[in-house]
Amino acid sequence: MPANKKLLILPGDGIGPEVMAEVRRMVDWFDRRQAVSFDVEEDLVGGAAIDGHGAPLADATMEKAMAADAVLLGAVGGPKWDDLPFDQKPERGLLRLRKEMDLYANLRPAICFDALVEASTLKPEVVSGLDIMIVRELTGGLYFGEPRGIEELPDGTRRGVNTQVYTTPEIERVARVAFELARKRSGRLCSAEKANVMETGVLWRQEVTRVHAAEFTDVELTHMYADNCAMQLVRNPKQFDVIVTDNMFGDMLSDEAGMLTGSLGMLPSASLGDPDETGRRQSLYEPVHGTAPDIAGQGKANPLAMMLSFAMMLRYSLDLDADADLVETAVKNVLDAGTRTADIAAPGAETVSTAAMGEAVLAELDKLAA
Ligand code: IPM
Ligand code: MG
Repeated sequence: MPANKKLLILPGDGIGPEVMAEVRRMVDWFDRRQAVSFDVEEDLVGGAAIDGHGAPLADATMEKAMAADAVLLGAVGGPKWDDLPFDQKPERGLLRLRKEMDLYANLRPAICFDALVEASTLKPEVVSGLDIMIVRELTGGLYFGEPRGIEELPDGTRRGVNTQVYTTPEIERVARVAFELARKRSGRLCSAEKANVMETGVLWRQEVTRVHAAEFTDVELTHMYADNCAMQLVRNPKQFDVIVTDNMFGDMLSDEAGMLTGSLGMLPSASLGDPDETGRRQSLYEPVHGTAPDIAGQGKANPLAMMLSFAMMLRYSLDLDADADLVETAVKNVLDAGTRTADIAAPGAETVSTAAMGEAVLAELDKLAA
């Protein structure tokens, strides 16, 4: 039997711990099946870490993350920590993980399950069968550019600064990930930037075009301004297959894509670094939804994005495609059977709790594996 995989679990804040509890049960399920087994460590991140360790991510936690085969993260942030200085906020914990693990490629698939076509605010014919992948650059751009800050001006007013900056290698490496994915899917990639107003956009377009000509001529490449891309995503999302874009545009476009699938509660994500000589890569998996403070602690949250993030981990970090398929099929079957948390339920329809949804997926896994 292969060596145990080292997982670091960081539930975080808000609904993070609730949805992560369902993943813990899935970990146990795979352990029992013995095809793969896990050494699980759990630690604090975000507001929970501020309260428990005095910082949004303790150095010791960072070290554990670097040593893990994969990190699973719930969500960070919440009203309790809103007034902290910027560099001490819960979100810094997540951003530190992304930056120090060099997780530059963030894969955010938006799939509209047939059973959820009605849950989207868009017309059924617009979203049915939707299956797109947003590749968001995750360690550069406005999120990390220097200089940044808020300064006091001599006249007593203030000035806030953030810097959008990208280099050739940063664009190249994320473009390659996106081209490779497009190659495995329908062979189409759309690159989104604002080359009409930003130098970083011009550079982005030129570098993506160069990588395409040199290495990926079998993939069909198109370019789109990011604002047009936002509009096209609600007008006709099925025109896309893979979209590659920068950190800030990717943040916005992926939330938008989330609603195409019915609920942000359905969207998983994978954040990946480069593989080393042994093929092992740093990786972190998290749902796209946030901490949802309004429903935290009530057992109402949808655990499927977190469970689907676990499936992405099986696929991208552990090369267990069949097991990832198993989890995704279990989720699909549970939705087909009509099981719904509140976020994906039709008005007036019966809803189940976070734990009951988790249980339904596990029961389905049992059936599928029998
Ligand atoms: C996301 C989130 C984060 C981001 C926050 C929590 C820092 O919105 O993962 O999309 O802005 O990247
Ligand atoms: Mg976001």
